Amino acid sequence: MSNVSILIGAQWGDEGKGKWVDILSEKADIVARFQGGNNAGHTVHIDGRKFVLHQIPSGVFRPHLKSAIAAGVVVNPSQLLSELGEIKTIATPTPDKLWLSARAHVITPWHIHLDERQESRTQQPIGTTKRGIGPAYADKASRLGLRLGQYVDDRTRDKWVQKMASENEAFKAFWSTNPAAVEMFHSAASGIKPFVCDAEARLRKAVREGKQLLIEGAQGTMLDLDHGTYPFVTSNSPTSGGACASLGLGPKTVSRIYGITKAYVTRVGEGPMPTELKDDVGAHLSKVGNEFGATTRRPRRCGWLDMVALRYAIAINGCDRLILNKIDVLTGLSELKIAVSYRHPQLGTIEDFPWEPEVLKDCVPVYETLAGWTDQPQASGRFEGLPKGVRHYISTVERLSGVRVTMIGTGVGREDAVILE
Ligand code: IMP
Repeated sequence: MSNVSILIGAQWGDEGKGKWVDILSEKADIVARFQGGNNAGHTVHIDGRKFVLHQIPSGVFRPHLKSAIAAGVVVNPSQLLSELGEIKTIATPTPDKLWLSARAHVITPWHIHLDERQESRTQQPIGTTKRGIGPAYADKASRLGLRLGQYVDDRTRDKWVQKMASENEAFKAFWSTNPAAVEMFHSAASGIKPFVCDAEARLRKAVREGKQLLIEGAQGTMLDLDHGTYPFVTSNSPTSGGACASLGLGPKTVSRIYGITKAYVTRVGEGPMPTELKDDVGAHLSKVGNEFGATTRRPRRCGWLDMVALRYAIAINGCDRLILNKIDVLTGLSELKIAVSYRHPQLGTIEDFPWEPEVLKDCVPVYETLAGWTDQPQASGRFEGLPKGVRHYISTVERLSGVRVTMIGTGVGREDAVILE
């Protein structure tokens, strides 16, 4: 058995990955982020204090751990420095503890400008976080990007700016009229430089030496560029396959793939969401679950757990265990529903997640109904200590998904967890 675990969001992001990476990282040596950028918001509650991490892996709070940002991430350098400043009362990672891949691409002020411009001009906005994520990945794919290794070297950074300005009039105009943003972009380079290294080579060496590696996803499978609800997706692959590609690790080195799902569904941004609830139950989930974006504070759309989508996410990632999070949020609802299939006005019953947004938007969920519970699931840490209704809900998720639920989240804290493995 090798020593590499991946934790993947099995929904549209915001499944609560930060808390579980923090818990799982107790037994890890290294935690690595593999995609996305500061569009992510991983919330961790420690000793009654709340931290929202956007770029730094959620394992950073454990002093024994090393953290890595791998090649497939896009990095906003000045934001990364402010994040390091924000956590410094509790964690101060040194360059031997925080590895930033020289291969990772940089989000520049130009990319943020493009993201904002695209979203405001289009008839059909994606509802992006406007952090420049999509344009940074687009430039990477167009071979126009700036990698961290080049960014921290003054000469190659200047060369990149010159090349962009000579080939792109709009870039030139933007760069010459936004001195504050440009100055911040240049000045962050020296602060980042000590951390930039061949992170993938270090990660592979650590795996060879038998170190425990935990790979942390951001966003979620349904936002995957290929397999998600395109075009309402992010611009990379937040799946287990994406993790291997980003870290430069062969898939066979991975031993455990955790899929994390809330006991219900949320989504930020646009795009179809078959089990969305715009009624009192939706309002309950939003309020009790505090469902507001950790990065943008936008309200998240809420709905019942969707098994068609979850089974799809499990298949794409090869999840061999599930983390069922925020089950406490369902407490007090008299009846609970789980979508087991969809019904489409023309296509009839649908059991496999459709690729077309046009089809998905007309899908009506077919629900299995369960009894609710009134007792708050306590943080006893024991499965047997959970209310009967909660245990029944968990076994229903296992039956419908075909995957064992090995961890259950019963509240926001590190201690609000039942761990069955
Ligand atoms: P982008 O990643 O900012 O380009 O946004 C693309 C889509 O992904 C939008 O629907 C965003 O709301 C969504 N998204 C991006 N990051 C997150 C996240 O961390 N949680 C949930 N949704 C996200």
